[in-house]
Amino acid sequence: MIPDNKTKLVGVIGHPIIQSFSPLIQNLAFQIRGLNYLYLPFDVPATNLKEALTGITALGIAGLNVTIPHKVKILDYLSDISEEASIIGSVNTIVNDNGELRGYNTDVIGVNETLIPFAESIRNSEVTVIGAGGAARTAVYCLLRNFKPSRVNVVNRTLQKADSIKDYFTAKMIFRGIKTFELLPPDLTGLFANSSLIINTTSVGMYPDNDDAVTTIAESFSSGQIIFDMVYNPMQTKLLAIASERGAHTVGGLKMFVEQGAASFELWTGAKMPKEAINEALGNALAELNTQ
Ligand SMILES: NC(=O)c1ccc[n+]([C@@H]2O[C@H](COP(=O)([O-])OP(=O)(O)OC[C@H]3O[C@@H](n4cnc5c(N)ncnc54)[C@H](OP(=O)(O)O)[C@@H]3O)[C@@H](O)[C@H]2O)c1
Repeated sequence: MIPDNKTKLVGVIGHPIIQSFSPLIQNLAFQIRGLNYLYLPFDVPATNLKEALTGITALGIAGLNVTIPHKVKILDYLSDISEEASIIGSVNTIVNDNGELRGYNTDVIGVNETLIPFAESIRNSEVTVIGAGGAARTAVYCLLRNFKPSRVNVVNRTLQKADSIKDYFTAKMIFRGIKTFELLPPDLTGLFANSSLIINTTSVGMYPDNDDAVTTIAESFSSGQIIFDMVYNPMQTKLLAIASERGAHTVGGLKMFVEQGAASFELWTGAKMPKEAINEALGNALAELNTQ
């Protein structure tokens, strides 16, 4: 569809923005649904965030996705924040409602939809979240809210950040079972082995670096375990390949990515994203990228 004077503009703000596949999935979904929208990437460094949001209101941009490094800081500039986004402390979707910028967290829908098939295995068991950034906060919130594990280990390179997640959610969700550890692989073998679910929320393993050594302890993986890597490029990270070889059930970040995008799409347009077509197109684009 060629943009005209009725086209609604949406997009993603982040820095750097070069790796984003959101323009691909959103523009394809608009095209399939026959919606007169256009989705663009906006490279906005942290120093320009406030001015960028003023510009978005002034230009009447209909909505935004928000990615690294703005997901937390952006809360300071919004008129209204959904209850979930406010508890998690992270916004990845904005709707411009006649000049009022409303913030939502659709990443949590992506995590939830990915974990639902494993709900029985997670309930009352020990789980481990690697990382302590925005994606880890979303994972910890979602686990405590919807899946009721008995214990959540938060493992991070910077222990202090894991400790702040622990303090925050212990108070906010009244749960005393959060333990924290430094990301030192040989020391974590027992911890990983005891976890029914391990979620990698770090960017370790992401294209083009693909080096998962820091999150991968081969001997700690076994059948009956679920290993969820939020990285979706490559679709099969080294962490997932090794865990799969050891018999664990593995899940990549693609489903989460499509589900969070579908929820943003629905907030902007009121329409459902055609997820099957989007999954196929995204899978093809990622496969092509990784053979280059
Ligand atoms: N599939 C999806 O839809 C989806 C959605 C959201 C996010 N994600 C994934 O989640 C990743 C993290 O996102 P975020 O928003 O949480 O980012 P973030 O807030 O910047 O947090 C990054 C985390 O990764 C850790 N980390 C980075 N490089 C590392 C390294 N070399 N060794 C060990 N730890 C390292 C950081 O540890 P320190 O605290 O020590 O710095 C921190 O815990 C993204 O890169 C993306 O792959 C996927």
